[in-house]
Amino acid sequence: MSADPRIGWPTFYAAKLSPRRSPVGTAAKPLPIILDTDPGLDDALAIAVAVARPELKLLGVTSVGGNADVHHCTDNARRLLHLYGADDVPVAEGAAGPLSGPLERATEIHGESGLGATKLAEATRPLEPGGAVALMVRLIEASPEPVALVPVGPLTNIAMLLRGFPHLAPKIAEICLMGGSVGEGNATASAEFNIYADPVAAEIVFASGLPITMIGLDVTHHATLGADDLATFAALPGASAKVAAELLAFAFARAKEWGQHEWMAIHDAVAVLHLAIPDLVGVARYRVVVDGTNGPARGRTIGDASDYRLKRDRLEANCDVGLTIDRERFVQLLVDAYRTLP
Ligand code: RIB
Ligand code: CA
Repeated sequence: MSADPRIGWPTFYAAKLSPRRSPVGTAAKPLPIILDTDPGLDDALAIAVAVARPELKLLGVTSVGGNADVHHCTDNARRLLHLYGADDVPVAEGAAGPLSGPLERATEIHGESGLGATKLAEATRPLEPGGAVALMVRLIEASPEPVALVPVGPLTNIAMLLRGFPHLAPKIAEICLMGGSVGEGNATASAEFNIYADPVAAEIVFASGLPITMIGLDVTHHATLGADDLATFAALPGASAKVAAELLAFAFARAKEWGQHEWMAIHDAVAVLHLAIPDLVGVARYRVVVDGTNGPARGRTIGDASDYRLKRDRLEANCDVGLTIDRERFVQLLVDAYRTLP
């Protein structure tokens, strides 16, 4: 027990866990997903597990500006899929910036290109014409099953899809997003980066009435890789694992420059794995609303799990929020995924 008994306590009201409401795929019946991403160091590992997991069918990837400029994110997504041997997966480019407000970037963490100093081979599959929303519409309409959307960057493309094509809502099985936090933020003390980068889009998504799982910092800050894990990836056969080790090394070097501990939260892969592994992440029901104003709490995801307040105000919870994860199991799932990739 540490000297200060509060160490390790959550910095927020941690609601009691409840059964997940989101769908989960199986190898016999893979869940169709569309990954909306801003690669991005941790996005690269999320794309890898989306390709590798037999419980998921990656229908397509759409890019959004966030960690880096959208053209870099698009190019990175295409090159990563090529690296992973997934040239069959279509990629389309999405929004460069938010629906409203300033352009936010995280290049100080991910590097100007979005993938640190790593240079990947050219992709062979051409970019899909028509842009991200058109690809999402095409894939959702063509899918015999409702599709799970997995946004792991700013929610701009998702908001545009929901506002532009409301008739597709019945064919959206789930929005399992990486973003937000019931506790503190990372872009600011209040806001997590993906929400902070486009709070108006996030407001639209959380108010949509669609089934949502918020995989926020509350759980992703427990989904970390450290120096010993880097060695594990570096020792794996295959170019994909070597690239993962390079990306981790870049992240650790940046952390060291800032006098921080050498670790990296693999945020986005948690959202993907939640749809493949039924009991990896513990969730609880919250009502989450987003602060879209321009004050110091801009982009905060305000989570309320108080039965008393929700009943008093005649409100209901609108999403599952990830609160717990088995870190060791998470790391093993990442390693196992990379063992299967070229
Ligand atoms: O706050 C973490 C999120 O912001 C992750 O999706 C990471 O890739 C960055 O986009
Ligand atoms: Ca991301």
